[in-house]
Order: sequence, then structure tokens, then C-alpha cells
Amino acid sequence: MRIDVLTLFPEMFVSPLSTSILKRAQDKGLIDIVLTNIRDFATDNYRKVDDKPYGGGPGMVMMPGPVFDCDEYVQKLSPEKGRVILLTPQGQKFNQKKACQLSKEKRLILIAGKYEGFDERIRIGLGAEQISIGDYVLSGGELAAMVIIDTIVRLLPGALGDEDSPKDDSFSQGLLEYPQYTRPEVFRGMKVPDILLSGDHKKIAEWRHQQALERTKKYRPDLLKME
Ligand code: ADE
Repeated sequence: MRIDVLTLFPEMFVSPLSTSILKRAQDKGLIDIVLTNIRDFATDNYRKVDDKPYGGGPGMVMMPGPVFDCDEYVQKLSPEKGRVILLTPQGQKFNQKKACQLSKEKRLILIAGKYEGFDERIRIGLGAEQISIGDYVLSGGELAAMVIIDTIVRLLPGALGDEDSPKDDSFSQGLLEYPQYTRPEVFRGMKVPDILLSGDHKKIAEWRHQQALERTKKYRPDLLKME
């Protein structure tokens, strides 16, 4: 899989991409992540990429020219046509199901802009889908792009040490994850539930499912109402 990120701040990605699972997945060749600076496609001497909104109002809007030119350049870097995604609070809300769908794509092109937004012709002209990571406003799409990259990469086969681990994650079965314990058996008076020490795998699986259900009912009843 290949992910291209079009951004004004490629330096923001350096630490997350060179740490832990994201680093390992790249080292293993499971994912190729390529950062391209939209500002390199500005055409004036000031390297301008945004401008005042027509009709007035606060803030600046990303100009279409540099984003179009950047997308055209990036598309040519690889034969696979990329699925273009704009990160914006106006987008469809991101969730684990979406992460799972996107992890099956061969190539994604993520466009991170400033929060005031993109000129509408960027969305229309690039045939981009819009994704939001939640109902709050970030200063730019970079952190949203990183969230999406992280969730996708850990789903790629071989990215995690234990092949089974993503399937029990919270949300992957529509439920929160069951409670987990490790050593010591008793910590500050709190004991690991006996069932987990019983060695009875069938009973443990049933208990875990029951716990996942109860937790979801208690903390995220909205998840049980979906679909
Ligand atoms: N850019 C600014 N806020 C955002 C959000 N919530 N999701 C995605 N991109 C954004």
C-alpha cells in the first residue's frame, strides 16, 4: 500500500512516522508513505497557497491552483490511481469500519489543509471524498491525516506482532474491548478475575464477550443502536 500526504507542514509527520508500529511497517515494506509540500506548487514569489474568501469573512481559504498542481504531480509518481481524501471537519465521520475499508485500498492521497477550509473547486475538481475525525476543529488536517494513517497501518497484515490482535480491538466487532489484566495477580488489593486464571478457554471467551457487551451498554450505548 502507498499513502501520499499533501500538506503545508510535512515536518509534523516526522516523529509519528519514525516511531513504533508505523516505523516498523515502513521498514518491513508493508506501506510506503510519501510526503509532498503543497507550498512547492505555489506560483508567486511569496509562495502563497491561501487567500481571503470571496464574499468576505474571517480567515484564509486554500487556493485551488497549488493543490491541483500538487495532486497532478503526486498522481504521476506511481501508476496506481489514488483515492483522494480531503481532511476537513465537514467530512463524513471517520470510524473503525472506514479504517478497515481504506486499509484494503492500494493507494490513498490524503490532503491536509488549513482549518478555514478549501476552495470548493478542490473537492469538486479532484473528485475527493471528505473525512472528519470528529466534531471538533483542528488547526489543520495534519493530525487528522496521522490518525487515519495510524488506524489503517495497524490493520495491514503483518503490521502488528500478534496477527490476531486487531480483531479483538474496541469497535472491530461493534463493541468496546473486554477488560484486560496482566501480572501481578493481586495489585493493591485488586485481584484478577478468577475466570482468567482458570485455563478454561471456552468460558474465558464467553466471559469476555459478556464483559464487552456490558461495557458497551454502559459507556457507549450508541454503538449498540447502529445498523
Ligand atoms: N481539519 C480541521 N479539523 C478537522 C477534523 N475534525 N477532521 C479532519 N480534518 C480536520
